[in-house]
Amino acid sequence: MSAAPFHLAWFLQGSSIQAWGEPWTDSITTDWMSCDMFLDLARGCERACMDYMLLEDSIYVGETWRNSRDIYLKNGMSIPRQEPTVVATLMAAATKRLGVVPTLSTFAYAPYLTARIVGSLDQVSGGRAGWNMVTGSSDLSAKNFGMACLPPHDRRYDMADEYIAICKRLWGSWQPDAIVADGKSGVLIDPARVHTIDYEGQYYKCRGPLNSGPCPQGQPVIAQAGGSARGRRFAAEHADTIVAHVKGIAQMKAYRDDVRTTMASLGRDPDTCKILFLISPILAETTEEAQAKAAQREAISAQNVDKRLAQLGWITNIDFSEFDLDAPVGELTTNGHQQSLAQFLRKAGKRTLREAIVSYTSGGASVDLVGSPDAVAAQMGEAMEEVGGDGFLFSMPNVSRRTTAEIADGLAPALQRRGLTRRAYSHVRLRDNLLEF
Ligand SMILES: Cc1cc2nc3c(=O)[nH]c(=O)nc-3n(C[C@H](O)[C@H](O)[C@H](O)COP(=O)(O)O)c2cc1C
Repeated sequence: MSAAPFHLAWFLQGSSIQAWGEPWTDSITTDWMSCDMFLDLARGCERACMDYMLLEDSIYVGETWRNSRDIYLKNGMSIPRQEPTVVATLMAAATKRLGVVPTLSTFAYAPYLTARIVGSLDQVSGGRAGWNMVTGSSDLSAKNFGMACLPPHDRRYDMADEYIAICKRLWGSWQPDAIVADGKSGVLIDPARVHTIDYEGQYYKCRGPLNSGPCPQGQPVIAQAGGSARGRRFAAEHADTIVAHVKGIAQMKAYRDDVRTTMASLGRDPDTCKILFLISPILAETTEEAQAKAAQREAISAQNVDKRLAQLGWITNIDFSEFDLDAPVGELTTNGHQQSLAQFLRKAGKRTLREAIVSYTSGGASVDLVGSPDAVAAQMGEAMEEVGGDGFLFSMPNVSRRTTAEIADGLAPALQRRGLTRRAYSHVRLRDNLLEF
């Protein structure tokens, strides 16, 4: 392995019918409920020695486009989707080394519940659990939980500061040696080693202790994706790994440097948080074939402008159906994913909305990767060398068994041959694997 190997992970956009209409996805329409394909995907990620599978989530049916659910339901856009912790548990059972990181939104799950669910996942997986900490982004989801709307963007992070403090204290409410299981005295758990937390904040209260017991990792891994200034600060304070949604080498480097500087100013060792950048490589036997596939993807995108704008509206709460497609995009704001909207606007520049959305085909990809497995592996190596670390996260628009094989059996071995990623896991626990290099 070279001096600077990097990490790989998979960003799974919900474990349900994905990529409807894409080639090679037919079987998923019949077996999505049992999530067989996603378990195959998890095994593929493990074959590729990835650090973790992150299961993205949202808890509502889209309705942003034309004030209607039609486009979302007809095209299976982020719907149906299953509770990610259920699927994460099955993935943990189907693998031995892969980290499993479900998303739980702070507005939807009480902190005690999150600490208990993720703590239990850490136990049953033998220390491979993480939590993708999100604060929510749609008022439609808030309405499913009896709220009229989500709190404003920055206040959600203030609330999350308290929320995560509770989770950490709950995970710490059991000393690691609390279970004494002393046959002689008949004592199972030493009461002196299990504590209440008696937390009283502005937004949350929690007594504790956690009833699910100690976690193998002490505290499960915290993943975070907020890219706004407030979101980055939160991540710098708490995250073990960050999903970064920025475009181009210069921005990737600036993002990473910024988070690392903030971490250092907060007294954290910057090397303890791994920043992974989204990619969606287009792979084929030869670079020419891959380029043809890329052109095909862009052509499909040009025919599906409504769908693509509805998808962007999904995360920004903006109804783009009201916009003139042939006028410049202009200034926009959101109470949802601010960073993602900023990326779109930066890329759009002075172009029309139609042009901007068509060229946004690779969505969140930080670098465009097109070619044979070896060519793409080389491009990834070069990008990482310039950025400085810490790795990539696959976010594929065409999740299928073929895509799994292209990455796990095509790209991953090419990366390993170049010494860029691990050939075997050194550890069982997720945090240990993240901290390995
Ligand atoms: C790559 C990426 C993945 C995300 N995954 C989720 C998710 O699974 N569920 C969710 O509710 N929000 C998700 N978010 C939203 C963020 O957690 C955050 O709430 C949102 O980006 C707004 O914060 P920001 O303005 O600081 O970026 C994601 C954001 C990004 C950029």
